Amino acid sequence: MDTITSSHGLSKLRPQLPIDQADIDSLSPVLKEELERLKSIFYVSTRKLIEISEQFEKELQDGLDNYGSNISMNVTWVLGWPDGHECGNFLTTDLGGTNLRVCWIKLTERHGETNVIQQEYKLADDLKTGESDALFDFIATSLGDFIEKHKLGGTKDDPLKLGFTFSYPAHQDYIDHGKLVTWTKGLEIKGVEGEDAAGLLRQAMAKRDLPIHLVALINDTTGAMIASAYNDPETIVGAIFGTGCNGAYMENVGSIHKLRTDLPEETPMAINCEYGAFDNAHNVLPRTEYDIQIDEESPKPGEQAFEKMSAGLYLGEIYRLVVVDLYEKGLIFKDQDASKMRNPYILDTGFLSGIENDTSPGMADTKRAFIEKLGFEATPEQLIFSQKLAEYIAVRGARLCTCGIAAICRKKGIQSGHVAADGSVANKHPNFKRRWANAMGEVLGWPVDREEDPITITSAEDGSGIGAAVIAAMTLKREKEGQTAGIKAV
Ligand code: GLC
Repeated sequence: MDTITSSHGLSKLRPQLPIDQADIDSLSPVLKEELERLKSIFYVSTRKLIEISEQFEKELQDGLDNYGSNISMNVTWVLGWPDGHECGNFLTTDLGGTNLRVCWIKLTERHGETNVIQQEYKLADDLKTGESDALFDFIATSLGDFIEKHKLGGTKDDPLKLGFTFSYPAHQDYIDHGKLVTWTKGLEIKGVEGEDAAGLLRQAMAKRDLPIHLVALINDTTGAMIASAYNDPETIVGAIFGTGCNGAYMENVGSIHKLRTDLPEETPMAINCEYGAFDNAHNVLPRTEYDIQIDEESPKPGEQAFEKMSAGLYLGEIYRLVVVDLYEKGLIFKDQDASKMRNPYILDTGFLSGIENDTSPGMADTKRAFIEKLGFEATPEQLIFSQKLAEYIAVRGARLCTCGIAAICRKKGIQSGHVAADGSVANKHPNFKRRWANAMGEVLGWPVDREEDPITITSAEDGSGIGAAVIAAMTLKREKEGQTAGIKAV
């Protein structure tokens, strides 16, 4: 038990637990009222969740029917599930927002040993807003460095096989092709939108004579789904709850009405939904003034409406905007130096989950985080307020995150199975999975007294490593069998 005191005379013994109603009652009337307001604007009721997921279902269908829809429902040319016998050695690379990861993967069948050597290369800030050539030269140079360092060999006649994880909306005419529709997650590299990212990487590798054959370009959601299905046949969806928010599932070719192909109708095809763009028309999502501000100040206003309310890149920023607003209204942090607080995107999800789950005496950890990130020492009252605010934003995000997956399950008549999830929000926020499961039950009408949840989140296997390797192996196998759909010989 620790004693905390506040400028409003708050002084009580508190257990080492997140704050409770008594703490909230101890806030000044103005702050308490403000907290009530925030609670209500960030709360998404069961009824609203159901309304959102019904609209989601319509937009998913629209994306299967038409090109140019809000949710693009990209065909991936990953035709079916892995059988678990995929084998071989593969190079994989994954362009994330912070790092480029390169792996060498030895697949030795389901349940066998999967050996991975990996290395991360820091993506310098100027690359994120620079020119296309600089980005693809960097990827090619990193691949060259990696294969040399690990003596992986490869020759012109027998090149190393590469799976390229490119987790942005890409239109794929073939599995080894991917025209970037629009950058998401804050990237702004010039000269890539409208271009084939696989082709650009191929050119950069050719300049260096790298003995590498790019077999497949994949999205992280498809990678998570296939990597997980390689070992877990109950996998139904691959989902990323991280910097961005998106999902992939398996559709029948016959239901993808926009696609012209000779493939039999019942052929399974993985779809990368790109559902971060859900409700770009702003019909159903309960946007607050802060969500509108995030959107307007982002490099891509009007895009990724759903992602901007639920993904890791934005949760800390929503928090910061609320705090700056209240500071300007003179409601909180009155005598503090607010200069650091004005830096966009200074707070990440780690900061939010740290505050929310702080059980250290007197919230000492949060106090330290404030000093470190925002440059001032928060009072006990401010700490209590901050913890509740962090909770409201995170709860809303987790609840919204059910809507896309509930819509997929309803659309496909899926009653049970595993959602293979990856990403910082799913993995690092201790309350996320519980909140998501509760909301999923509300949307899908599961009995309140259920013993277990029929659909559960499982931690995805390494999608951009093992997933990319398995997809490359599946593609090579199809090629060997003489199948040509969605494979372009380069
Ligand atoms: C963004 C990207 C999408 C990716 C998701 C998760 O929504 O557009 O391709 O899957 O982030 O990384």
